[in-house]
Amino acid sequence: MNDFQKELCRNLAKYCQDVIEPHMEHDDAEGKFRMEFFKGLGDYGVTGVTLPELYGGAGLTYSDYCYVLEEIAKVSVPYAVTVSVSSMVQTILNEYGNEDQKRKYLPALTSGEEIGAFALSESHSGSDAASLKTTAKKVDGGYVLNGTKMWITSGGIAKTYIVMARTGAEGAKGVSAFIVRDGAQGFSYGKAEKKMGWKTSPTKELIFENCFVATEDRLLEEGQGFNVAMGGLDRGRVAIAAIGVGCAQRALDEAVSYSLTRQQFKQAIFDFQGLQFMMADMALEVESSRLMVFAAAKSIDEKVHNSKLCSMAKLKATDCAMKVTTDAVQVLGGVGYTAEYPVERFMRDAKVLQIVEGTNQIQRVVIARHLKKEYENHA
Ligand code: CAA
Repeated sequence: MNDFQKELCRNLAKYCQDVIEPHMEHDDAEGKFRMEFFKGLGDYGVTGVTLPELYGGAGLTYSDYCYVLEEIAKVSVPYAVTVSVSSMVQTILNEYGNEDQKRKYLPALTSGEEIGAFALSESHSGSDAASLKTTAKKVDGGYVLNGTKMWITSGGIAKTYIVMARTGAEGAKGVSAFIVRDGAQGFSYGKAEKKMGWKTSPTKELIFENCFVATEDRLLEEGQGFNVAMGGLDRGRVAIAAIGVGCAQRALDEAVSYSLTRQQFKQAIFDFQGLQFMMADMALEVESSRLMVFAAAKSIDEKVHNSKLCSMAKLKATDCAMKVTTDAVQVLGGVGYTAEYPVERFMRDAKVLQIVEGTNQIQRVVIARHLKKEYENHA
């Protein structure tokens, strides 16, 4: 970490610990999201980290962004996720949007005034994303959207949605990407999901019933929406990986601190070799995941397209988050299973990291496909 990154993380950690942390246990129990916390993160310049200054972003690197997410995730995985999904929307707009779209939608997102959300999944198309059924029928001046999107992170609190819908034949080539605003006629929200974790991050259905979207709100050309989604997800997966590292680091911190003070059999439980080995393995997992995240972030900063490395980082760091948080609960024992300590919350928040932005089985599919291509090319 360079001096700038250290300073950025120090200030951000103070905000997260002083302002967000004291509410986490209560808000997790109540399922309460607070827009003022998100705006507060915006005031620290971390809601549009990698976006150009021209559009209100901080103009920093993806590596800087990963440190930021790790820091927020140490206090709240759901707020880190809200930032990361909104940032993925910005990356998509910046990469695939035209100048008018960027000027119109980016500043409110980069500043943290508004939140962005990404709508790809449907009830029957999760992993097989290219089979989505929501339609966008061409009409005079635009398109009419019909269909329902499922499990949308920040559904209902976001103002700008990137929505993938079918304009053509079956499969990936028939998908187009659209920008849809909260409040658009024919766009409403369905049920809020009751979840195991991520309680402070709302997840909702999006319902489109004859929702008109102007042609100027289509990203790229018709039929390029699947590539838009996959390009956004490549980078999004590294962000989810960075959140996994933050989540795991917090669990490790809690486990080591607790085990140094908890006495059993007249000694600190840390001094039992059984627990030492466990915590050494936890630390090894966290550090190796972090290295993988920064290798992937570096490839993004160097503009070397490397979906394989992005998927590897996501797979490694989110499996690490699940393992390390589970082990942290074990180290704390009975109190670890109660809300008196935050490790059970981090364990619940870790689980879905292995599922969102492509399950870890899908990450293996991506890795294997790349391996096949590489080895066939060398044959
Ligand atoms: N970047 C750009 N384009 C890509 C790409 C990438 N990383 N990966 C694939 N494409 C393109 C391909 O090049 C191809 O286009 P061409 O024919 O023009 O070359 C097109 O997309 C179709 O590719 P595939 O044939 O590989 O597509 P597939 O149907 O076999 O699916 C998959 C591939 C990897 C399994 C994909 O469906 C996938 O990633 N599934 C998981 C879905 C997912 O991640 N959902 C996340 C939901 S969002 C979320 O979770 C956010 C949140 O709320 C937190």
